[in-house]
Amino acid sequence: MKLPVHLTLLLFLFSMSFSKAQTIYNESEVPSFEVPDPLVTFKGKTIGTIGDWENVRRPELHTYFETKVYGKIPKNLKIDSYKILEQEDNALNGKANRRQVELTFKHNDKVLSFTILLYLPKKVENTAVFLGYNFYGNHTITEDESVLISTAWADNNEGFDIVNNTLTAASRGKRTHRWAIEKIIDAGYGLATIYYGEVDPDKDDFSDGIQSLLYSKNQKHPKADEWGSISAWAWGLSKAMDYFEKDPEIDAARVIAFGHSRLGKAALWAGANDKRFAGVISNNSGCGGAALSKRKFGETIGVINERFPHWFCTNFKEFNNKEETLAVDQHQLLALIAPRPLYIASAEEDRWADPKGEFLSALYASSVYELYGKKGINIMDMPVVNSPILNTVAYHIRTGKHDVTDYDWEQYIKWADTFLR
Ligand code: GCU
Repeated sequence: MKLPVHLTLLLFLFSMSFSKAQTIYNESEVPSFEVPDPLVTFKGKTIGTIGDWENVRRPELHTYFETKVYGKIPKNLKIDSYKILEQEDNALNGKANRRQVELTFKHNDKVLSFTILLYLPKKVENTAVFLGYNFYGNHTITEDESVLISTAWADNNEGFDIVNNTLTAASRGKRTHRWAIEKIIDAGYGLATIYYGEVDPDKDDFSDGIQSLLYSKNQKHPKADEWGSISAWAWGLSKAMDYFEKDPEIDAARVIAFGHSRLGKAALWAGANDKRFAGVISNNSGCGGAALSKRKFGETIGVINERFPHWFCTNFKEFNNKEETLAVDQHQLLALIAPRPLYIASAEEDRWADPKGEFLSALYASSVYELYGKKGINIMDMPVVNSPILNTVAYHIRTGKHDVTDYDWEQYIKWADTFLR
């Protein structure tokens, strides 16, 4: 049946206002809830020592996030081989070495490869590195003509000249504003990035991506407690780390996992899974990242699972519109990263990601950092915009929208200078 245009419009407006009414953007509508204590076990035992945290509480929290939220990685797949596809020791006007390294994985007659684009400052040896995924291909983060264009699947996108699910040269350099490469290199850090679609294409289809290499016979979909895409992306960061450990020019003990938005969720989960990461930066990661779920402010579990059914494990859907039944909240994900430096960043206009929920999460994770004698967030109220708190647990809310800006990178570099040198 075809509805008259005015009726369709009316229905559309009605559904819009309905879904808007569902989204909480007002503090007075945030439900009251109990914040689960990182230092009290599920059975009610209070944790007072690092030993009890590491041997009792941390493992039970990690298992919960693994089986109920992001999904387990079924096997520790090793790099089958790696290949330097391209290198140049006069990149970025002579300041940096550039390398493009392809890692290949094989299992059950299937193969998956992804390519790390690496810039290392020439004047530094044994370099600390920021490692993070990009959304639209390595070639978008710089104007550098030598950066190879990935052939992996990408969602069609006019703004990024992606047609037929294929990345194109027309988008070279389109995301330079998010990657302050010069500042990073001038400060003496390396930058490593990977197109996230090479590890697991961002679509609700589990026939491709890294999960498909590890299926058991006749398996077509991860089990209810097995990895969704965020776990897959986190896995890819750890595999990049496996490579860094072999690379004499990189100081693998000083690699920071960085990510924006969905890729910030992946960076946090990577940091929780893999203690080799020296620190983690979550840039506007929001729901399922740094933001507390139980506040239900902005994006909620029900909404994220509906729009992105492949990001989390199937078990996570149990909590759609039932955040109160979760035994954990996201501050405990952050606590899993302790005592390593952790930076949570929000943007004022990014209400979808719940800046206050991100701040509170950093605050509530701080008791675990304090157990280690580290300085967490030591103020109860959110700081005003553009006034970073640069402790082991760091936080800022900057003016502006959901994005990564030079301002963000300036703070990350300053903070890394203190905690990574
Ligand atoms: C959507 C999604 C967020 C996510 C963001 C992004 O807005 O709802 O959860 O963080 O995409 O990755 O850009």
